[in-house]
Amino acid sequence: MKLQAVKGTQDILPRDQAAWHAITAAAEQVLGGAGAGKITPPIFEFTEVFEKSVGESADLMVQKEMYTFEDRGGRSLTLRPEFTAGLMRSFIDHGMHTLPQPVKLWAEGPLFRAENVQRGRYRQFHQVDYELVGSDSALADAEAIELLYRTLQACGLTRHRIRLGSVGDPDDRAAYNAYLREELAPHAERLSPVSQERLRLNPLRVLDSKDQGDQALIADLQRPLERLGPAARGHLAEVEHYLRSWDVPFDLDPAIVRGLDYYRRTAFEVHYEGIGAQSALGGGGRYDGLIELLGGPPIPATGWAFGVERVLDALAQEEAAQAETPERPALFVIPLDDEAVGEGADLATRLRREALRVEFAYQRRNPGKGLRDADRSGARFAALRGAEERTRGTWQLKDLASGEQSEVADEALRAALTERLENL
Ligand code: HAM
Repeated sequence: MKLQAVKGTQDILPRDQAAWHAITAAAEQVLGGAGAGKITPPIFEFTEVFEKSVGESADLMVQKEMYTFEDRGGRSLTLRPEFTAGLMRSFIDHGMHTLPQPVKLWAEGPLFRAENVQRGRYRQFHQVDYELVGSDSALADAEAIELLYRTLQACGLTRHRIRLGSVGDPDDRAAYNAYLREELAPHAERLSPVSQERLRLNPLRVLDSKDQGDQALIADLQRPLERLGPAARGHLAEVEHYLRSWDVPFDLDPAIVRGLDYYRRTAFEVHYEGIGAQSALGGGGRYDGLIELLGGPPIPATGWAFGVERVLDALAQEEAAQAETPERPALFVIPLDDEAVGEGADLATRLRREALRVEFAYQRRNPGKGLRDADRSGARFAALRGAEERTRGTWQLKDLASGEQSEVADEALRAALTERLENL
């Protein structure tokens, strides 16, 4: 049997690392610049951290998408399907409510959801996540959205769009759910099985159904935004006001629902057309109440996450993407006899300590083969040495682009190389 990667997981190969690194570097720069500290929580937690947080009507629960297992002590553990729950567990664990508020955190890394695999939907994927804990102000929501917008800009995206909505306060939600139950109950058996389950647990989530039959049934119903109470409506108006004054483009989306249950008031997503059905690059919102639900003090919070794989997919669509080309070695060392093998490795080690990228051949090469190896490595220059060069204490330094070659003394090689690289 040939071993393969598990469906829905991917290897991030050396040639892709620079593009991945550029995303986290952009996040570090933008989010760090706003006072967020990086946090790295564990990859698994006790299952109840997620069960309590994501809510019983979340797809993660209804469609059993969490990777849950028992450890040897019989305790139920779960691979994290998102960052927010674990970060709030950590916030409580470390008494971060005693720090000056608000506390801003950001995180990045792999997450795990046992979903149906398709473009943009994987079983191991990666997010950049931002959370602001300790403010109920609309300003905190607006700032979070501005940071999301600008982080994606710093990644190189230009065509992403924010969709802004509100899921209301708990009372609004209860009233809206009652309205949906009343409207949908007579047609319940015509809904898809998942929507029937959602209708029972949290009717709001039926609006998120992609099923065409479901969509036809809900097409004429009022959306959450049309039934907001005055407090949530005022909060949303303030968020809009700040975003306009900071020139963050957004569209109001009356139907925004989100796939996790913990949201209150502000809910938003950022979309990108042209990356298939899964056009949401990211999403988030306010989640006052979650920390209390996890056993902490009643502290309001807001935040978001974006999917790194989807952002890379979007970047590939943009001409501006200009995905960073992987760095190429400056020099490839070719030993023309056995004695030169060790000398070549010594040279490479010496130059690497001076911050040059250098590769070498591990065995004697004839010049033709050696130069082919050098070309394949992507190097700009090659250094060759055989018996004659050894007696003179030199290397043949060859420019692999122009073919120009000159003999350079061993101790002058570093300077000659730097000078030539600078003059390119
Ligand atoms: P989410 O909407 O579940 O929110 O995920 C955010 C983003 O993660 C999605 O928009 C998508 O880009 C990416 N994503 C989610 N699932 C997958 C998957 N299976 N494969 C590839 N990418 C995926 C959250 O996770 C919330 N914790 C966000 C948040 C933070 N809310 C408040 N604070």
